[in-house]
Amino acid sequence: MARMPAVRTVHVCQQCGAESPRWSGQCPSCQAWNTLVETVVARPTTVAARGRQRGALTALPVGTISPITDVSSAEAQRLVSGIGEVDRVLGGGFVPGSIVLFGGDPGIGKSTLLLQLAARLANARGSVLYVTGEESAAQVRGRAERIGAVTGGLGLVATTELSTALGAIESEAPILAVVDSVQTLASDALSGPAGSVGQVREVAARLAEAAKTGRTCVALVGHVTKEGTVAGPRTLEHLVDAVIYLEGERLGSTRLIRAAKNRFGSTDEVGVLEMRSDGLMEVSDASRFFLESEQPPVAGSAITIALEGTRPLAVEIQALVAPSGGGSPRRATTGIDVNRVLMLIAVLARHAGLNLTGHDVYVNVAGGLRIEEPAADLAVAMALASSLRERPVRAGTVLAGELSLAGRIRQATRADRRLAEARRLGFETLITGTAHGGGADRDVHLVTATDVREAVRLALEVA
Ligand SMILES: Nc1ncnc2c1ncn2[C@@H]1O[C@H](COP(=O)(O)OP(=O)(O)O)[C@@H](O)[C@H]1O
Ligand SMILES: [Mg+2]
Ligand SMILES: [Zn+2]
Repeated sequence: MARMPAVRTVHVCQQCGAESPRWSGQCPSCQAWNTLVETVVARPTTVAARGRQRGALTALPVGTISPITDVSSAEAQRLVSGIGEVDRVLGGGFVPGSIVLFGGDPGIGKSTLLLQLAARLANARGSVLYVTGEESAAQVRGRAERIGAVTGGLGLVATTELSTALGAIESEAPILAVVDSVQTLASDALSGPAGSVGQVREVAARLAEAAKTGRTCVALVGHVTKEGTVAGPRTLEHLVDAVIYLEGERLGSTRLIRAAKNRFGSTDEVGVLEMRSDGLMEVSDASRFFLESEQPPVAGSAITIALEGTRPLAVEIQALVAPSGGGSPRRATTGIDVNRVLMLIAVLARHAGLNLTGHDVYVNVAGGLRIEEPAADLAVAMALASSLRERPVRAGTVLAGELSLAGRIRQATRADRRLAEARRLGFETLITGTAHGGGADRDVHLVTATDVREAVRLALEVA
């Protein structure tokens, strides 16, 4: 019996790129250990590519050239799910022909979210395929019942074979194919087990191809490993158009979605969802969500209006300073760069007479949010000052501004947007820096401070 010619594979060193015919623990070329990954080399090529290889000219099929005036943009074709938080992080919905990796810890809610997206799009836009390698079709149906995702137009395929998944996508040509998960599918062209680096890359590469050829969106689920990446080396991220992470505190119900890479949108957007028994729900007032309490302010807490992407969010910064018991003091942060906090501690000491040398310092961004923008400086500094002085920041006050090493405050970018959000949430005062060297941007609610000492006085002391 004639066998199909086997797909040729080689073992490629992830460090030096050398190829070896068979696997070994050590790279024969650069001597690195455990760097060889089995990779498919000979892929069936398209007719056009074979033609090019032979140097032949391929006749253009009718309709190959389209007047630009007749082409609709990717924007126009985007698949909008209606789950606004997800659509926004994607850059306005899924782009046909693209592949998006959804990563996150096991149990965080990836399958739930994708089943919800699948059902929404099946309802509104056309046929959707959900390939499940992890759970049985009955288990997926069970979840669908719980979250209201039983709908016509949504097909289930339970398989762990890449070829079956690809066949289903090709024959069904769905608008969206969810593949749950990249770690459970395997190609029989490779000898490694499902979930191995070689398999994961092959699965992603073949699905990316299928997405492009069939104008299907592929949403690929991937578990995050202990090292914090999806399937080991970052190579997977290069094979997909966008990487969306679903994250959240294990015990809390808040889930944040953010893009680590997005070929079709910004990576600044953050989506906020809440895990409930009937699925992931949009949080109606995300800004309020990050304010831990509406109780009277306590020492060690300051609120900033952060601009994560296009949306302003009120975020509480919590600080605890406590005398350290000798030795070098501890400095620990969650949700903010520890080096930024070290700088702010130095600025407070030098320019506001607040010395934290003998104190342990802990800084936490409430609600599991991560803040990168320097406009949070002022709130962090005031939370520290407030904790040290054991005096709460004045009620109804929010802060936004960047601190320089000289202790000067620069007004936060897009201060008007932050101010509007502060107003909307009922804050009375926004303390910020001067916009252009002491100019008077006077507003009843906008208080400007030139330096950190003045900010401490405005934020902590009674007028
Ligand atoms: N029967 C249930 N009732 C309510 N919530 C559930 C139920 N089963 C699972 N969940 C929620 O769904 C989460 C698992 O979500 P899932 O989408 O399976 O995560 P992932 O695919 O990322 O591993 C659980 O942590 C839990 O919060
Ligand atoms: Mg799952
Ligand atoms: Zn090598």
